[in-house]
Amino acid sequence: MPEPRADDLLAWYDRHRRALPWRARPGERPDPYRVWLSEVMLQQTTVMAVKPYFERFLARFPDVEALAGAPSEEVMSAWAGLGYYSRARNLHACAKAVVADHGGRFPDTEDGLRTLPGIGAYTAGAIAAIAFDRVAAAVDGNVERVMTRLFAIREPMPKAKAAVREATLALVPQDRPGDFAQGLMDLGATICTPRRPACALCPWMAPCAARRAGEAALYPVKAPKKTRETRRGAAFVVERADGAILLRTRPPEGLLGGMAEPPGSAWEVGYDPKHAILDAPLDARWKRLDGVVRHVFTHFALEVTVLAARVAPGTIAPEGMRFSPRETLADEPLPSVMKKILAHALGPALAPAAATQAAEAKPKPRRGRAA
Ligand code: ADE
Repeated sequence: MPEPRADDLLAWYDRHRRALPWRARPGERPDPYRVWLSEVMLQQTTVMAVKPYFERFLARFPDVEALAGAPSEEVMSAWAGLGYYSRARNLHACAKAVVADHGGRFPDTEDGLRTLPGIGAYTAGAIAAIAFDRVAAAVDGNVERVMTRLFAIREPMPKAKAAVREATLALVPQDRPGDFAQGLMDLGATICTPRRPACALCPWMAPCAARRAGEAALYPVKAPKKTRETRRGAAFVVERADGAILLRTRPPEGLLGGMAEPPGSAWEVGYDPKHAILDAPLDARWKRLDGVVRHVFTHFALEVTVLAARVAPGTIAPEGMRFSPRETLADEPLPSVMKKILAHALGPALAPAAATQAAEAKPKPRRGRAA
């Protein structure tokens, strides 16, 4: 069986590369800020979902100085809907560190990049290769699938991570490591897909061990999944006569930290929505809405019962809460699950982006927690 060669992948990439908004065109120098921003956004989120956010983010924060100098609420609002909000907090901290400690220039090595907030092994490898043409491996779920198939690595993930990384690094060419990294990403996304891979179109069809055995679909082998628990809770959507909606800000640390939400109960496995009224933020004529709002986080699934009420003009928000005017509700840093809850009570016009994003969110996170 022939050995896989980087050149075959590069020749394929030259013909079939995807045009993506953060990608330098052939002959152009990549912009480290755009590369970094896209890689952080693409952690746990699909290319389709990221594209519009990337464009909007870049229009609002055109360079690392603009991002570092922006108020955190503005950064969180621009991120709202992408999920995993600790990434947005780290993104902002990283921009500040690049400006304060590195004169506004990203470090150009994997080790240097890894000292920055929110940059782990994958992201450091991707930025070092794509922005600075360093010989580095950027191994995400797509690359794991390509490599385990190419070399028929049977050890289950995540145990096989070290072997996959080693196999990838051994293939990275001295010239064009950035194009190699992006070629691998495109191959995984468009040819070496989870189901029904298009092996006939693959530049590595001949050397692929899984293909030869007719077993591509078996890879990557995965350790058996733990089942996700379901937590339940209640949310209270209060609309004042002037259209303003009652919101509060979540504590800065932990799940969805610092984001806005309508008031609600704790989310617990044993929560009984029959008694939701006990968690109401104020006295009102509550209407329990039919159905539940579902949302899937990394470690649990959530079912929220929604109760809605209208209150009189002049109603004052309870302590720690605020009435957010309807006209500026879209500027609130509302995560997808909260947009879904508001849309359940107020109608879909409020949050079309949230519904789209939630449907496309990657099911399998690479690392870290939902936040
Ligand atoms: N997935 C992660 N990083 C990517 C990139 N730079 N291009 C396309 N898909 C990606």
